Amino acid sequence: MTTILHGNLIHTPAFGKLETIHGGYLVLEDGVIQGVYRVLPEQYAACPAEDYGEGLIMPSFADLHLHAPQYPMLGMGMDLPLLDWLDTYTFRTEARFEDTAYARRVYRALARELIACGTTRVAMFSSRHTDATLVLMEELERAGVTGYVGKVNMDRNGGPVQETTEDSVAETLRWLEGCRFAHIKPILTPRFTPSCTNELMAELGKLALERGLPVQSHLSENDGEVAWVKALHPDCGQYWETYQKYGLWKSGALMAHCVHSGRREQEAMAEAGVWAVHCAASNVNLCSGTAPVRELLERGVHVALGSDIAGGDQLAMNKVVVMSIRASKIKRMETGAAFLTVPEAYYLGSAAGHLYFGGGAGFQAGHLLHAVVVDDSAMPEPTRELTLAERFERAVYLMDRRHIKAVYSEGIERLRQIPGPEKR
Ligand code: GUN
Ligand code: FE
Repeated sequence: MTTILHGNLIHTPAFGKLETIHGGYLVLEDGVIQGVYRVLPEQYAACPAEDYGEGLIMPSFADLHLHAPQYPMLGMGMDLPLLDWLDTYTFRTEARFEDTAYARRVYRALARELIACGTTRVAMFSSRHTDATLVLMEELERAGVTGYVGKVNMDRNGGPVQETTEDSVAETLRWLEGCRFAHIKPILTPRFTPSCTNELMAELGKLALERGLPVQSHLSENDGEVAWVKALHPDCGQYWETYQKYGLWKSGALMAHCVHSGRREQEAMAEAGVWAVHCAASNVNLCSGTAPVRELLERGVHVALGSDIAGGDQLAMNKVVVMSIRASKIKRMETGAAFLTVPEAYYLGSAAGHLYFGGGAGFQAGHLLHAVVVDDSAMPEPTRELTLAERFERAVYLMDRRHIKAVYSEGIERLRQIPGPEKR
């Protein structure tokens, strides 16, 4: 079926490139983009149209690193550096997800909130709990969120959420058996090197190879962590080698943070096709540092953005995009490196993630539509008429869920199905 979306089209078809069409037309065939037009071609004149008037139709967001079981601690417990923060708050919070009824409530709310904020693709950490992880996948699928979810593996230094090596492997296999979802797929998730014994890392590396599964983890986030990894793996000169040693350093692997990745580690990422997921809010909250994003990009590393809730305090990816701009300006003040422009940062928080999952950058023909529609009419009245580029910038900085009027995921509008706040 052909459908037409009419409104102001704004997208970033390439890194740093912003394209705008005032009063344009987006033509879909069964949710797949056919083309973007200034004037509607004659052949589509009789097709049903969704008229968004002066609304801004923009690509949706992709959050390539977040921890679902940390949603209950959002906005709390940010007075400690990473390793103490994990022991003091995080592992205890995740331990609650043994209870699948509790997991159902939290994950349903999280899935709906993701859609309400315009995030339609994710790469997500669950907890170590198999049943709660399957519940999470089911709730994301139901809400219309797509992407990857990983049952976390952690057989050492895990306090109340530590598993035995045997259980970790057996439960991973049981979880993979239960993964039968159309739009949410499994990703192997060794939490980070200090959480996994060599034996477990080797088992996961074997699984990744045998079943062609993707991998996500953390890399060079914090000084204390990097020193700990060195002590645990004296044979590895650098952090990334601890993943490489066990077959977990592979094309498409998602490595969150990379704050302290030096030249060699960055080159190893570029060579292997490993992605860096930049989580600026989390890096500031946990005093981890400011990631060398410009350097990573210049070395040819794929970079996407992550909210990293609850180290990050904002689930809404436009806030994460803004935070990445702020962090890049702090970096600029420290080193002189060029900061991220608004279209560049938006590209990283949107197009980069869509590309990771095989989608297009911007509204590219042949791809299922992932988009948000923003109504900026209630934003402060400007002194003059704004260009679409200015309205785009303001929307990125100021919008919240109240301004989002529609959300398309895999070509289908999903926001209408989410009950209002009073019914949640
Ligand atoms: N490193 C290992 N686990 C975590 C986590 O839950 N959050 C962050 N930010 N870093 C980690
Ligand atoms: Fe994280």
